[in-house]
This record gives sequence, C-alpha cells and structure tokens, in this order.
Amino acid sequence: MRILSGIQPSGEPHLGNYFGAMRQHVALQDRGEAIYFIADYHSMTSIRDAEQRRRFTHELALDYLAIGLDPERAILYRQSDLPEVCELAWILTTVTPMGLLERAHSYKDKVARDQAARITITHGLFAYPVLMAADILIYNADLVPVGQDQKQHLEMTRDIAGSFNHTYGREVFKLPEPHILEEVAVVPGIDGRKMSKSYGNTIRMFAPEKEVKKAVMSIVTDSTPVEAPKDTSTPLFQLWSLFATPEEREAMFARAKAGGLGYGEVKKDLLARILDHFAGFRARRAEWAARPGAVEEVLAEGARRARALARPVLEAARDAAGLGPAPR
Ligand code: TRP
Repeated sequence: MRILSGIQPSGEPHLGNYFGAMRQHVALQDRGEAIYFIADYHSMTSIRDAEQRRRFTHELALDYLAIGLDPERAILYRQSDLPEVCELAWILTTVTPMGLLERAHSYKDKVARDQAARITITHGLFAYPVLMAADILIYNADLVPVGQDQKQHLEMTRDIAGSFNHTYGREVFKLPEPHILEEVAVVPGIDGRKMSKSYGNTIRMFAPEKEVKKAVMSIVTDSTPVEAPKDTSTPLFQLWSLFATPEEREAMFARAKAGGLGYGEVKKDLLARILDHFAGFRARRAEWAARPGAVEEVLAEGARRARALARPVLEAARDAAGLGPAPR
C-alpha cells in the first residue's frame, strides 16, 4: 500500500498540528510505503519571503525527524526537489474544468479573506488543487491521510484523474482513497477556540519550556471555586486528556466532578505531561539540528527515491497525451 501526504511549511508546529496529523503520519509509516513531502511549492500561495520559506522548510523536516519519522522506512522530501510535479500539474490543468476549481471551499474562503485584506488573489491560489492532484497522482498513491479540511481537494483529485483517463482513453491514473484522520483533532487553543496559528492561541511543540509554561498557565478557565465540581468539557480538561491514558482520564474526571480539584493543579500536571511527552523528541530534534548537512542528505535521498517512483507515471501520462517522441 502506498501512502502519501504533503505538509505545508507554515512555521511553528503546535499541538494541533501534532495531534491532528503529524503523529498519524509517523504511525502510518509501519502500514505501507509512506511518502511525505514538505509542500514548499504550495506555500508560495501564502508565504512571500524566500528566507522564511527556506527556514520553515528545514524546520519542518527537523520536526518530523524529531517525532520519529524514520528516513530508512518512510520517504521524506522537499516538494521543489521534484519539479516533475509541476509538469504533471500543467498536464492535469488542461483537463480540469474551471467550474470544478471555482467550487473549492478553501479557495472561496481564502478569496473572501484576501479580498477583505486587499491582498491580490493569484492564479496559483486558484490552481492549488491541481498541483495537489499532481502530488498524489504522480505516485498512484492508494491512501492519502489528510484532515477533514482537505477532503474536497481529494475528491477533486479523483475527478481530475478520471478526466485525464477519459480524455486520453487510458487508465494512466489510479483514483486515490482519502483517509480522513479521525478527530482526535479537536485540539482547543488556550483561548478555547480551535488551536490555530492565525488565532495566536497555540502551544508550540518545541517552544522553550518557559514559553510552554506561560501558554499552559494562560489556558482559559472559569471562576468556579476549588471546592465546586468542574465541567470537564472545557479546553483545559480536553488538552489534558490528550496526554492521559483512558484510565487516568476517568480518575481525573471523577475528581473534577466530585469537587475539590483546582485548575492550578490540573495546569501544573498538564505542563509536566507536555514537557515529558516531548522531552525525547526535543533531544532528537537538537541532535538533527546540529547536523544540517545530514538533514539535507535525508531530503536529497528522499527526492531520489521519490523520483524513481514518479518518473514512470509521468512518462505514462506524457505518452498517453502524445508528448515527446513515440516510445520505441
Ligand atoms: N493542501 C494540504 C494542506 O494544506 C497540503 C498538501 C499539498 C497535500 N499537497 C498534498 C496533502 C498532497 C495531501 C496530499 O494541508
């Protein structure tokens, strides 16, 4: 089974990214041939600072290596090291109806936001789903683990693949199955809204301890006195639960309901659990960070392995479309 996913280098991965996707990506490397790439081409639709893109890309590689992505098993590469994907994106763009792209929620949402901010809406943003389809179809991937927000993009990928196969009368592309990551992913931010960089309510995975502490201590709580029973559906208890076994959770929730449990105690315990959970990852990250050349080597080797898988599919598409000389 071939598993594929891409992650945009948007900077500062936080608990929401970790529990929502990154952790599952690492777990899936045992289930098949996993291919993960850092979507730096995609990031061009939002980030316009070259230095920032380079830094975020390198750091995201460090983050994945830190949390246990094993480059001996999974392939990890930088999207732009495989420019073949842009050729396939062009080929696919010629069989993609405008109307399909116009219906994309994420495009419509971004247009609404960017118009409000008076930011120019680029063709790259509009064509984003076609590049994403190329990412997936170039490996004939079976399974694409993504969050709920990417489901429509996956459906579009299937439509685009079908459109190409139909146009040129050959089954060049396999229609991929979405694997929607289950919603462990409701990770609240410290203000109670969904944890998101754009809300500034995150707890960054690898922030210095002082910063993690400050964030945890500022998680919103109500003014229920210590003796009173506590509502366990609140952000503090939800965040705490991410780091607890079901038994621990049951015991803690029973205490909360009985009364006598202060929020301060829960926060202290949550802080200890976060630091403990990421301690090993933090150490491994520091080791990789000290060897930037080794990280580059992982990415280069990833791109070599990815290219070997991508090339034959791209050739089949070129041939079906009558590009280049006839094969002998
Ligand atoms: N659009 C995805 C996101 O924003 C990132 C992505 C790009 C991706 N190409 C992909 C995900 C291919 C899965 C497969 O999260």
